[in-house]
Amino acid sequence: MADSRSIAKKIASLCPGRWLTGYTKTKLRTDPLYNGVHQELQDQSGPLLDVGCGMGIFGLYLRERGWNAPITGFDYDQSKVTAGLKMIEKGGYQNISLSRGDARSELPDHSGNVTILDILQFFVDAEQRQLIKEVSRRVSDEGILVIRSGVKEKNLRFLITWIGDIFAKCTFWMKSAPIHYPTKEFFVETLEAEGFKVEVRPFWGRTPFNNYLIVAKRT
Ligand SMILES: C[S@@+](CC[C@H](N)C(=O)[O-])C[C@H]1O[C@@H](n2cnc3c(N)ncnc32)[C@H](O)[C@@H]1O
Repeated sequence: MADSRSIAKKIASLCPGRWLTGYTKTKLRTDPLYNGVHQELQDQSGPLLDVGCGMGIFGLYLRERGWNAPITGFDYDQSKVTAGLKMIEKGGYQNISLSRGDARSELPDHSGNVTILDILQFFVDAEQRQLIKEVSRRVSDEGILVIRSGVKEKNLRFLITWIGDIFAKCTFWMKSAPIHYPTKEFFVETLEAEGFKVEVRPFWGRTPFNNYLIVAKRT
């Protein structure tokens, strides 16, 4: 199996333009996100719905790691979906589909595993609750739900997380500015109400951000 450096190099080489190539390579090499979520998913054989998939980089990462179940990515930014579809074609990846839609009002039909990586800050509290309800219906009995999110806390990490998200909006990389960050208690309360056993743990790696990994399994 390829090592992390070659995976980062390969996926980045599929990106359109120098900025995205550099950004993707740096993200893959410095952010614990994709590797950490892959570790949670690696024993799962059911399909994956990745809500707010961006260009679908996580799906490509899973394929490079040898995870071969069907993957559906969903994002409201058409430019990212289009770029991602070209990358999938260029890389010859199988069984990954990406589609455009707003997760505040619709989600594809699905039963299996679900990931929500770094998108909840763009939703108000009621929308976050609704999304948790909707994705819960799409997690099968054997499947898992994995979320990464910045979490609201009174600390420097949280301030840096917020500044990072504002920066992403100012550079037009994100269509929206952050609106509302959930708390750790929010995840426990909403996911237990949907019948999950929930684990919430810090997920910082070497980054300065106040990110947590939330893993929900059926009890
Ligand atoms: C920080 S990026 C994370 C991308 C991807 N999950 C990853 O980790 O590589 C957040 C993504 O959420 C998407 N997004 C934000 N609000 C959304 C919504 N209401 N419906 C669907 N996608 C949304 C953005 O377009 C963006 O691609």
